[in-house]
This record gives sequence, structure tokens and C-alpha cells, in this order.
Amino acid sequence: MMQPEVLSVGQTVVSCLSEVTSLLLLLLLLFLLITAWSRTHHSHTPGPSFLAGLGPILSYSRFIWTGIGTACNYYNRKYGSIVRVWINGEETFILSKSSAVYHVLRSDNYICRFGSRRGLKCIGMEGQGIIFNSDVPLWKKVRTYFSKALSGPSLRRTVRICVSSTAKHLDSLQDVTDPSGHVDALSLLRAIVVDISNRLFLRVPLNEKDLLMKIQNYFETWQTVLIKPGVFFKLGWLYNKHKRAAQELQDEMESLLEVKRKMIDDAEKLDDDRDFATELIFAQNHGELSADNVRQCVLEMVIAAPDTLSISLFFMLMLLKQNPDVELKMVEEMNAALNGKAIEDVDYEGLKVMERFISECLRFHPVVDFTMRKALEEDNIDGMKIRKGTDIILNLGLMHKTEFFPKPKEFNLTNFDNTVPSRFFQPFGCGPRSCVGKHIAMVMMKATLITLLSRYTVCPRQGCTLDSIRQTNNLSQQPVEDELGLAMRFIPRTQKQSAVNSETE
Ligand code: HEM
Ligand SMILES: *[C@@H]1O[C@H](CO)[C@@H](O)[C@H](O)[C@H]1NC(C)=O
Ligand SMILES: *[C@@H]1O[C@H](CO)[C@@H](O)[C@H](O)[C@H]1NC(C)=O
Repeated sequence: MMQPEVLSVGQTVVSCLSEVTSLLLLLLLLFLLITAWSRTHHSHTPGPSFLAGLGPILSYSRFIWTGIGTACNYYNRKYGSIVRVWINGEETFILSKSSAVYHVLRSDNYICRFGSRRGLKCIGMEGQGIIFNSDVPLWKKVRTYFSKALSGPSLRRTVRICVSSTAKHLDSLQDVTDPSGHVDALSLLRAIVVDISNRLFLRVPLNEKDLLMKIQNYFETWQTVLIKPGVFFKLGWLYNKHKRAAQELQDEMESLLEVKRKMIDDAEKLDDDRDFATELIFAQNHGELSADNVRQCVLEMVIAAPDTLSISLFFMLMLLKQNPDVELKMVEEMNAALNGKAIEDVDYEGLKVMERFISECLRFHPVVDFTMRKALEEDNIDGMKIRKGTDIILNLGLMHKTEFFPKPKEFNLTNFDNTVPSRFFQPFGCGPRSCVGKHIAMVMMKATLITLLSRYTVCPRQGCTLDSIRQTNNLSQQPVEDELGLAMRFIPRTQKQSAVNSETE
């Protein structure tokens, strides 16, 4: 009597099994199809393969774990000068080929940047400020205020302020010298540069040390949140301390601006050359810009130089020491240019060796290694189809080491003996979204260097070179702080010879 039922149960099991098998087969087929589709779909661009979704996870992980700059260099070295990867699930092109980079830089199609919305919101850059603002009309408006403050008559003022800030900090060098005679050079350069920025753009009394710490913490947060997935922002125990760090600098800016507003109100009459902060406060008073936006713009103006220029100068001091013949040539040129003149009155255009030195430093060991953009419309780069909304990273640093230059992998001023066509050398970018501070940055570097080098020669700790100090290449290329390796001795020029001799003994 039981037989038929057992049989039917057996049959169900069998048909069940075959259903599972066919489902599995179907899934396998689907998997193969997707893989094949993704292969053919992306076959025209080199890069890691899609692998049914594993590829995007792997490439995203690499960006998170090794830092953006390091990951970009890895992919360009492995797959070539145009690579397709994925960041946070978004198709992303990394370009280090100069023709492709130049195309993007100059085109209006790439004037926006990409980054996690929640991340940018956390640091106040979403739809505000200039650096990562992708609200095009608002960005355009804001950029005119930056351009005005960073060019024209203010360039002349810049030299004077750079010289006097540098001199002031060098005068109190003994306050920051440790018992072994070393100075934390990067901190010193940061202090000089933040003082310059304040005197140029804000002009309120401030606690340099405290502000610098907040700027550094803000930068940490910036590189932490920039490409993080949405889930990161839900994990309070991970996220809150970063959020707090960003908030602290924003609060500091708010209170500095409060002081500034009071100073403006109290002033009998305003000077003719109004500074950046004053212009923005006026724009706010006239309903042109929101209070939050004004705060963010001032914040970005104040952090821009300490985050880039001070580290560039630090690398320059290291490279100078590693190339004594270059230092000799530069000092000769400097002495000839000074020749009894005040440092403010030097003909900066005439400092050709220094100019080549600065260019070669920016090429050989850049702080800003790459820049992030977004395609607004569909486009074609070097025969590569770019879909609307594609994220783009321009790997400027690698571009400078793979094309045009006669000695691309070496530090050598002969790399700039001949005029370099602009498409091969773009440390500041060019076109509509280039570094708005590119001209002032050059002036600031020259004025600071000449003031420093006319008084001191620097000696990094024995055995410390750019290769030996630890560095990260995340949002930018930086030495790891709290390292003894960043300490240098500042030796007055007049005692130079004996000091150099004792160093080599
Ligand atoms: C050695 C120093 C510096 C280097 C190497 C540097 C490099 C760069 C680069 C590569 C970009 C991205 C450009 C692009 O996407 O095409 C940039 C953007 C920017 N830089 Fe600089 N920069 C330096 C100093 C400065 C200084 C001193 C300031 C201002 C005081 C400044 C303000 C800015 C701003 C506001 C942006 C964003 C512009 C925008 O998105 O419209 N930079 N910089
Ligand atoms: C990238 O930056 C963040 C924030 O500073 C840091 O926590 C992380 O360790 C950095 N990654 C690398 C690989 O340096
Ligand atoms: C720089 O290149 C020139 C020309 O090739 C060479 O003579 C010189 O030795 C190089 N300098 C250094 C420091 O390598």
C-alpha cells in the first residue's frame, strides 16, 4: 500500500534535484553571459576585468587600502596610460597619457569633480566653496572671487608678505630648535605659509599652532571620507571623530570671520585694496553668497597653501641638499640678483635656475599627484568612448615621468633646459578648472625660498633623503609626520663651509 507514495516522494526528490541542477546551470550560464558581456562591453579599454562584480570590489578596495594616488600609479603601471577601474561601483578612467590629460584639462566637459556626496557634505565641500564644488553656476561665481584675490595687484603684495613672514619665523628659529640643534622643518614651513595666507586673505589675529593642527585634522578627514561608501557614514564609532575634526575647523573659521566682521564694522573707512575675506563678507551682505558658503570659501583659501605649498617647499629643501651642485648654482644666481637689493625688489622673472629647480621639484616629487574630474556629457578621448557621468582621474605625476622629459626618472635640471610644451608639464593643471593659485604659488615659493636660502643652508638628519623617509600618497603625496626624519639643521650661510665640512666628517 505504501509503495506508490514512496515512489511519488522519490519522484519529487528527483524532480526537485533536477530543478536545482537546472537552476544552478542557469545561474552559471548567466554568470558566464555577464562576464562575457562585461568583457566585450569594456574590451576596448585596458583595466582589471569585471569578473561578475568581483573586479569592481577589488579595485575599490585597492583605492581604499593603499590610498588614491598609490592605486592610480599601480593601475597605470600595470595596464597602461589609459585604464578603466571602478571606485564605489562607478566606472572610473585613470589617465596618464599627455594627449588624453590635456584634452580633459582644456575641455569644458570636465569642469566638475567626483567624490562621495556624504563625504563632501561632511567636510562642507558639497555644493559649496571651490575645490570640490560641482554646482557649476555657483562654482563659477565663487571662482571669480578667488581669481581676483590670487592675481593682479595682490601678486606684488605677496612678495612683500612672503619675505617678511619667512624672515619673522627665521628670526625666532631658536624657539623651535630642539636640544640636538634640529628644527622640524615641515612644521616651520607650515607656520610660515599659514601666516602668509592669513596676512594675504584674512588679516585677523590668530593662534597659528592651534589653527595648523585643525587644518591637518581637517585634511585627514578629507582624505578619509572622499571616496568612502555610504555605509561608512552610518558607523558612528568610525565616522564621528572625523566629522568632529571637520566641524572644529569650520567652527574656527566661523569665529575668525566673526572677528573679521567686527573689524570691518569698526573700521573708519576701508582700505582700497580689500582682502579676500572682506570681499566675501560684502558679497554676503549684498545677498550674493550664503554665510555657509562664505565660511567654506575662506576655509579653503586658508588651507590651500598649508596643504600644498609647505610640503612642496619641504621636498625642495630635501632635494636641494641631495644635489649640492644645484644649490651652488642657485646661491650664485641669488647673490647676483640680490647684490645689495632688498629681497622684495629682486627681479623674480630673472631667477632662471631657481625657476628650473622649482619646476623639476614639482615634476620629480609632486605633492599633488593627480586631480579628479567628471564627464558632464558623452565624449571621445583618444578613440576611447567616455560615457556621460564617467569619473576621471588625471594622473599628472606619472605623466611627468613617462613622457617627453630626457631624464624622466632622475632629478636633473637638464629636464628643463629646453622649453617644455605645455601639454607635457602641468603641475597645476590648466584650463577652466586649473589651480586658481598657480601664479601666486610660484611667487610664494620663490620669495620664501630666496629669503630662507639667502640666510641658511639646511641639513637633513644624517642619512635622511626623500627615498628614506616614509611617505603616503593618498589624496596628496606627503611625508609621514611625527618622524625624526623631518628634522633639519639650519646652518647660517656665513658659517656654511665649516658646517658642511663637519657634516660630512
Ligand atoms: C605647490 C603648490 C600647489 C600645487 C602643486 C597646486 C596644484 C593644484 C592642482 C593640480 C589642482 C587641480 C587642478 C585641476 O583639477 O586641473 C589645484 C586646484 C586648486 N588649487 Fe592649487 N596648487 C598649489 C598651490 C595652491 C595655492 C597656494 C592656492 C591658493 C592660495 C591654491 C588653490 C587651489 C584651488 C582653490 C584649487 C581648486 C580650483 C577649482 O576647483 O576651481 N593652490 N591645485
Ligand atoms: C589615507 O588617509 C587616511 C586619512 O588620513 C588614513 O587613515 C589612511 O590610512 C590613509 N591610507 C593610506 C594607505 O595611507
Ligand atoms: C644631469 O644630466 C646631465 C646631462 O645628461 C649629466 O651630465 C649630469 O651628470 C646629470 N646630473 C646628475 C646630477 O645626474
